[in-house]
Amino acid sequence: MGTLKTDPFVEQLVAYRRHLHANPELSHEEFETTAAIRTWLQEAGIRIADFSLKTGIIAEIGGLRGGPTIAIRADIDALPIQEETGLPFASRVPGKMHACGHDFHTAVLLGAALQLKKREQELVGTVRLLFQPAEEKAKGASQVIASGALKGVSAVFGLHNKPNLPVGTIGIKAGPIMAAADGFIVEVEGRGTHAAVPEAGIDPIVTSAHIITALQSIVSRNVSALDSAVISVTRLNSGTAWNVIAEKAIFDGTLRTFDERVRVSVRERMEQVVTGVATAFGASAKVQWLEGPPAVVNDPKWAQLAARTSESLGLSVVEPIPSPAGEDFSFYLQETPGIFFFLGTSGPQEWHHPAFDIDERALPIGASFFAALAVDALAQLTGSSLK
Ligand code: NI
Repeated sequence: MGTLKTDPFVEQLVAYRRHLHANPELSHEEFETTAAIRTWLQEAGIRIADFSLKTGIIAEIGGLRGGPTIAIRADIDALPIQEETGLPFASRVPGKMHACGHDFHTAVLLGAALQLKKREQELVGTVRLLFQPAEEKAKGASQVIASGALKGVSAVFGLHNKPNLPVGTIGIKAGPIMAAADGFIVEVEGRGTHAAVPEAGIDPIVTSAHIITALQSIVSRNVSALDSAVISVTRLNSGTAWNVIAEKAIFDGTLRTFDERVRVSVRERMEQVVTGVATAFGASAKVQWLEGPPAVVNDPKWAQLAARTSESLGLSVVEPIPSPAGEDFSFYLQETPGIFFFLGTSGPQEWHHPAFDIDERALPIGASFFAALAVDALAQLTGSSLK
């Protein structure tokens, strides 16, 4: 990576990213991160916008001659993971790590801001920069929206690094690109008894085992081959002793879907299976939903523009396989059309891995792409050919 340090702009982005990487903060606790971003924006003469957020920060470039507003977003929070990369700029905070590359996203957005600031005079509208907190908890986007920062915004753009795409590649896709990520908790109420006398009770463990098995048949029997869904039960708790049949069992897990229609129908089927199977065993059960972000659904018109922008920069555009992970950028897309795209980072590991890393050659590519996309989007909105 020594060769990266020849260009002062690239050197700056690498410095931003490494500083953030070494100093990760969890969702809702990004105070130092926010302060650092504020300082860097102010150093570049970029105006901070007045939206009230506890953590995270909004800034603006352009708008000197009025015109439309578009927004570009980076998430800034880290994860409760112990880093195992051995990098010289590895996390200095035990048990916390930028293992999803939000340090990279932040540096990319700062880089785009530096480029746009240089071209501020020619911008035919305003570019609003959203440095969003708490993406990992799927709460930050809603906070940014509640602050009013999406009001008057005609298009919104966001990105995620993609370790399995090579540097120089952009993954763009119309329609769903990331999943709706709902959680569920099922409580099965039986009747406790001596393990040697099961007929005197109602066994919540046997009941749960049947419910869990039956839940798996929803994906194979109720979801069309042309649609998709994932149901994973990830935890099961019951019982206190080897010779006692428990009163109750609790299990939880997640449902991932890419289509709102499928999301609604699978949830209905899950509730029917849970209550129906429990009844068949003489038990009772209920599902509690932990509503997650909806699917990230890209606007075809903006996806087309993003592909044109990529090509104009000589980047290769691929249609990525959608990710069954969740992403709260979906909340912005429910308010305002736009796209969420993947940026190739040739990483050694997937998201949330303790040895996660990105190839820093992707930093200037992401920054230039974000800046060019913002300029192209404003031009498209104003019908101006200025590029
Ligand atoms: Ni992420």
